[in-house]
Amino acid sequence: MSENVVILGAGSGIARAVAQRLAARGCRLLLCGRDADELERNAADLRVRHNASATAVPFDALDFDSHAPFWENCLQQCDGRINGVLLCFGTLPDQQQCQRETASLRHAFDVNLTAAASVLHPIAAHMESQKSGWLAVITSVAGDRGRQSNYVYGAAKAGLSTFLQGLRNRLQPSGVHVLTIKPGFVATSMTEGLLDPKSPLVASPDAVARDIDRAIRKRRNVLYTPWFWRGILLVIRSIPESIFKRLKL
Ligand SMILES: NC(=O)c1ccc[n+]([C@@H]2O[C@H](COP(=O)([O-])OP(=O)(O)OC[C@H]3O[C@@H](n4cnc5c(N)ncnc54)[C@H](OP(=O)(O)O)[C@@H]3O)[C@@H](O)[C@H]2O)c1
Repeated sequence: MSENVVILGAGSGIARAVAQRLAARGCRLLLCGRDADELERNAADLRVRHNASATAVPFDALDFDSHAPFWENCLQQCDGRINGVLLCFGTLPDQQQCQRETASLRHAFDVNLTAAASVLHPIAAHMESQKSGWLAVITSVAGDRGRQSNYVYGAAKAGLSTFLQGLRNRLQPSGVHVLTIKPGFVATSMTEGLLDPKSPLVASPDAVARDIDRAIRKRRNVLYTPWFWRGILLVIRSIPESIFKRLKL
């Protein structure tokens, strides 16, 4: 039987690339996000390319009160059976602005951490009661160690990674799988103008999507993508704090 999969932040560059792979292997997709026109175009593309079932659903991560009814709406659209959820929404804040303005700081934490935690709880409760399903959530390698250039973003993603670790531990007895996805640099609209897409350290959304799709199928716990970021972060985490605090990173 084909899987019903909900994608939150479905307009993201990484989400669109994963959606292509999920649709190609027969998943029925709910594409959830804020830009209805763009999502409808993406859904139409998936229907044409893969003969897939793909439907756009309105979702604003910052509308906290909508999270529970939004999930009920998704369940209704899937006749009460949702196999998997991929959470891709996020924002890369300006670190300097976050240091100056509380509103920017709060926005970064609200989108990257609080909203993700809030929407995942009704989803987790449902999957726990149905005793099956998977959750795949994008955090970031930036959460593995705080650096002066982006520690607000890093702290929000670190919080999300720890939240997912606890959720995985909670859901293990019910057979629900939780995948923490930690991409390095990816060429999407989030990093446009900040990264050189030709750099060997910058991955394409499709390369990252291939890793994510495989990790979902293999029920991995934590994915670094591309693979070499696991080693890079191992080195970065192992630098003693007395040295690390002096580095300009
Ligand atoms: N690109 C990288 O180098 C990189 C590295 C590590 C981790 N990540 C993470 O990967 C994930 C996907 O990012 P991306 O690279 O694919 O960037 P992207 O294309 O800019 O996608 C970000 C998505 O988040 C959505 N979003 C932001 N605020 C939202 C809200 N309030 N409600 C609903 N959706 C909201 C945006 O929707 P709108 O279109 O409506 O604005 C957009 O679709 C993010 O969590 C990001 O932090 C990215």
